[in-house]
Amino acid sequence: MTRLIIGAMVRAIGAYPSGWRYPGAHRDPRGDAAVLRRAAEVAEGARLDYLFFGDWLATGPDLEFQDPYLVARVDPIAAITYLAGVTSRIGLIATANTSYSDPYTLARATASADLLSGGRAGLNLVTGGEPRAAANHGADFHALNRSRHDRAVEFEIVLRRLWDSFDDDAIVADAARGVYLDPQKLHPTDFHGEHLSVAGPLNVPRPVQGHLPIVHAGISPRSRLFAAQSADLALVAVGDRQQAIAIREELRSLAFESGRDDRTLKVIAPVLPIVGETREHAQSIADELSELVQIAEDWPDGAPAGFPPHRSLAQLSQLVGLDLAGLSPDRAVSPPLVAEFSAAGQELVEIVAERTGRNPSGERPPTLRHLVVAASVNASMIVGTPDDIAAEFEAWGDAGAVDGFNVLSAVQPQQFEEFAFRVVPELARRGIMRTEYEGETLREHLGLAQPVSVHAADGAQAAVGEHVASVVPSTAGY
Ligand SMILES: Cc1cc2nc3c(=O)[nH]c(=O)nc-3n(C[C@H](O)[C@H](O)[C@H](O)COP(=O)(O)O)c2cc1C
Repeated sequence: MTRLIIGAMVRAIGAYPSGWRYPGAHRDPRGDAAVLRRAAEVAEGARLDYLFFGDWLATGPDLEFQDPYLVARVDPIAAITYLAGVTSRIGLIATANTSYSDPYTLARATASADLLSGGRAGLNLVTGGEPRAAANHGADFHALNRSRHDRAVEFEIVLRRLWDSFDDDAIVADAARGVYLDPQKLHPTDFHGEHLSVAGPLNVPRPVQGHLPIVHAGISPRSRLFAAQSADLALVAVGDRQQAIAIREELRSLAFESGRDDRTLKVIAPVLPIVGETREHAQSIADELSELVQIAEDWPDGAPAGFPPHRSLAQLSQLVGLDLAGLSPDRAVSPPLVAEFSAAGQELVEIVAERTGRNPSGERPPTLRHLVVAASVNASMIVGTPDDIAAEFEAWGDAGAVDGFNVLSAVQPQQFEEFAFRVVPELARRGIMRTEYEGETLREHLGLAQPVSVHAADGAQAAVGEHVASVVPSTAGY
């Protein structure tokens, strides 16, 4: 048994593309306030480590089909600041994009969220995968991976220095003596790098947690290096347990090579459980969600512009190695048809059977639509009873595949609450999750030490005033 970090990745209209169409689902983001509040209360009641809010800096009609939750939603820092006021223990993590954010503004907003929440805020730094974001922020183009990461490295150093502007005891507030501030304990930032230039100091006291726990979510090798060198949590995209074991090992050895204690880097994988009272019930929910996903053939005159090109019989034809053009997407997949499929096609039939209970030789065979959806919807799903899901979490933890999970919910609030009310007690019974909060801050929930201020660590003015032309992330205090 391994104790795991368990957070919820909140997507208010559900994380599955058709989740918003499911009966009883929350659909209209204009009603997000009540849904987010309820989710936070339920998650805190379940003693989750944190709620996690992603971000995306552009929208368009194409997102309706790709990832409908990206079409319209509230700003993540606004969300965590709002939820800070209606919760008292749970951690609150917001995503920010280092390519388009201003570090002073972000340091200020996040230090404020940390103070207002009593030390429960966290920050997920991403470099962004949406090219349309550039035109929304006065940039001519979305910079290349390398350049975005160079800026991200500087960005994180600047954030930490800004958060360290005030020593913890800088505000004296001695009314009797009339002394408010000890000026020796307020430090300029004086950062002049290739991408960023910030004078400082920040006009918010040092965060309760010293520095907010930093998450980094990314895919590329450069992104992994960034996470390994300086993040507290690495949020990774993984297909299966073996791949997760390899990625965690790689991240930890990169962390070790960069001179830090590799155990301080926690590797977290997103997972999308579909919870049912019985396995068949869970499979029937997955089945219904699958049938509600639109595919290109649902538009006889052609799918709308921007429709995901891989969500089509044409793409499925390539995968299974058979020309399926012209067939109805609702055509049943029979054993003789499966026999003609490529190995990848046959594997897909097995995935569909596991998720939906549909077997080509059974009473309810899968249809071509089920195969298209399974091949094109990119989510790490576990379909089953609370016991099935907890057992899978435990197996991943015991295998050293992850330090925790970011749990996605296909349907809000139904699947989110099924997880909180049914799976969490099972996780607690197995010792994977706490039954009570032991600490006050997000750092304490995650088992992370409080970082020392750069000024305390380096000696009073050591890091201040120098020109930083070529920078590497500081690991001082970690
Ligand atoms: C699990 C996971 C979650 C992510 N969440 C976000 C997000 O909310 N917003 C965002 O802009 N990028 C998000 N990303 C994308 C990465 O931050 C990154 O911008 C993208 O992968 C391109 O950079 P890379 O090629 O270096 O990974 C996420 C990536 C992963 C793996």
